[in-house]
Amino acid sequence: MASIMVLNGPNLNLLGTREPAQYGYETLADVEQMCEQAAAALGYQVECHQSNHEGALIDWIHQAGQKVKSGELLGVVFNPGAYTHTSIALHDAIKGADVPVMEVHISNVHARESFRHHSYVSPVASGIVVGMGVQGYVLAIQGLVHKYQAKGA
Ligand code: DQA
Repeated sequence: MASIMVLNGPNLNLLGTREPAQYGYETLADVEQMCEQAAAALGYQVECHQSNHEGALIDWIHQAGQKVKSGELLGVVFNPGAYTHTSIALHDAIKGADVPVMEVHISNVHARESFRHHSYVSPVASGIVVGMGVQGYVLAIQGLVHKYQAKGA
């Protein structure tokens, strides 16, 4: 059974207690369980990772690229956290690994501080889900599967 990688960046390990008005009360474990169920309903498994370190995220993107090439993986549902707004290295990793990425932001970053309005990830993302709360991860999984099936794969 092919998989979908669910990748979370810095501070998302604090979900549930971190600024709940912004990010809600669900923990990262709750989110990963939601993702597992959403993917299973479509016939896929998930592989979940979280890191507060940019290099670790880059390494997982590279691994994802190899797994996409070997047909083990559809792509990555990725919430890069604050690295969204700073990381040219993540932009280059996604482009270099040639991996389909659905970018997710729990909050509506465009309704927040101006430094959150720019994303280095969006130009290399297959799709973007913003401001839908943690349900955005489920929508991103569904979108990734839909795009994959539309390609006739
Ligand atoms: C976030 C938005 C980012 O601006 C912020 O730094 C995060 C979370 C979101 O999910 O809304 O860590 O990616």
